[in-house]
Amino acid sequence: MPAAAHEPEVIRDKAAMRAWSRRRRAEGKVVALVPTMGFLHDGHLSLVSAAVAAAAGPVAVVVSIYVNPSQFAPTEDLATYPSDFAGDLRKLAATGAVAAVFCPPDLYVRGGRPDASESGGAISCLEQGDGYGHETWIRVERLEKGLCGSSRPVFFRGVATVVAKLFNIVEPDIAVFGKKDYQQWRVICRMVHDLDFAIEIIGSEIVREADGLAMSSRNVHLSCEEREKALSISRSLVNARTAALNGNSHGQQIKDQIVQTLEEAGGQVDYVEIVEQESLTPVERIDRPAVICVAAWFGKVRLIDNIEIQPPS
Ligand code: PAJ
Repeated sequence: MPAAAHEPEVIRDKAAMRAWSRRRRAEGKVVALVPTMGFLHDGHLSLVSAAVAAAAGPVAVVVSIYVNPSQFAPTEDLATYPSDFAGDLRKLAATGAVAAVFCPPDLYVRGGRPDASESGGAISCLEQGDGYGHETWIRVERLEKGLCGSSRPVFFRGVATVVAKLFNIVEPDIAVFGKKDYQQWRVICRMVHDLDFAIEIIGSEIVREADGLAMSSRNVHLSCEEREKALSISRSLVNARTAALNGNSHGQQIKDQIVQTLEEAGGQVDYVEIVEQESLTPVERIDRPAVICVAAWFGKVRLIDNIEIQPPS
């Protein structure tokens, strides 16, 4: 039975997804993709609104839900990554703006043979070829290093590769990414530029809880106490931006202040960096558009956040 008008169609098969997208485009619609790993919150849903706004006309929004094993190192939290597929579908249906949800079972196969139930078609033939799993990777060589890349060395190659696969399957005109994952957004922009994907990449603003905490699927793992302490991240970033806009452009001083605030709150700092917005090159003085990026652990949860600064010229 076809889904009701506001209910997204759930598509699991790659060939079916591609055919669906091509039909929508033939109907004159802009196809917009919002890649996610599920356990959706208002930050994810804001990307759907951004997709509709960017299309500025008839649009078919596809939200993909796929917890991508290739971007998790063996020591990371893949096994405990939260999921709630039924809840996700309800939230997406409630937006009234999502036409399809793409949830492929196996975009990436670690070592072994992929699921035999995978349908035929060009991509499946390749993946089922030799039983050795996945061996082709996309690396955005400079941008994948530094910031999150220092402590998560396989993360961005996993992200870039799986996003490229989503692009090849969904063939979107537009794809939307959150600035919450600032480096990820820039890595994707660079990949699209370097590999000539005909896709417009939209960077969408960070959505925060009322108290400033950046929304994240991982926030659910914070205890009440840890969550309170984690507010030091957004607070220290806002204070840093105020200081920078009031004339303190000295990068090291600003970073030291943030580190001190996070540590006093009980956080364990992974990094605090001030970098150029596009190149992500470190800056010593905030005398051009910059972004302050932070990653810190509160308990067993690693949180990231950032704030853009446009200094007065
Ligand atoms: P995930 O963490 O589920 O995030 C999906 C998208 O939602 C990303 O573009 C992310 O930046 C955005 N997002 C998350 N929290 C946000 C917030 N508070 N405000 C605005 N946007 C927010 O990022 C991934 O999944 C994966 O790496 C993926 C791109 C899907 C590749 O596997």
